[in-house]
Amino acid sequence: MGRAELVENLNKALSYELAGIIQYSQHSYLVTGKDREVFKDFFRDMAEEAQKHAEVVGDKVVALGGIPTVEPAMIRQSVNIDEMLKQGLELEREAITAYMAAWAACDDNDLPQKFWLEGQIADEQMHIEELEKLTSERTAKAGAEKIVLREIS
Ligand SMILES: [Fe+2]
Repeated sequence: MGRAELVENLNKALSYELAGIIQYSQHSYLVTGKDREVFKDFFRDMAEEAQKHAEVVGDKVVALGGIPTVEPAMIRQSVNIDEMLKQGLELEREAITAYMAAWAACDDNDLPQKFWLEGQIADEQMHIEELEKLTSERTAKAGAEKIVLREIS
């Protein structure tokens, strides 16, 4: 483990954030039909969030003595809303993997970097859970059998 590995993984995370800025922005331009009413702003907010994350990660890479990457990761394109959401989910899953690898590269006693990364990982996990719900990959199962439809008399 060491600083070089930490910086390398943070740069990987940065490349996913840079891809997120571009991918979510393009999706916000492209979404049409009734979906546009909701998802134009949804994708713009996600692009803004990726921008904020990119700034924090880029600053951190420099603080650790590295050079922040200018190369975005793979950008997925679609004109179909379901496909766009799936692509967002794939991107967020890649990003969280990079953040977790960065966490694992921290020295055991490097608590400040670890705590900071845990916050990032928690943010990414919230996005993943939302996108899993939006793509219906995640549905309520526990206790669902207790839900009864009431008849209106
Ligand atoms: Fe992010």
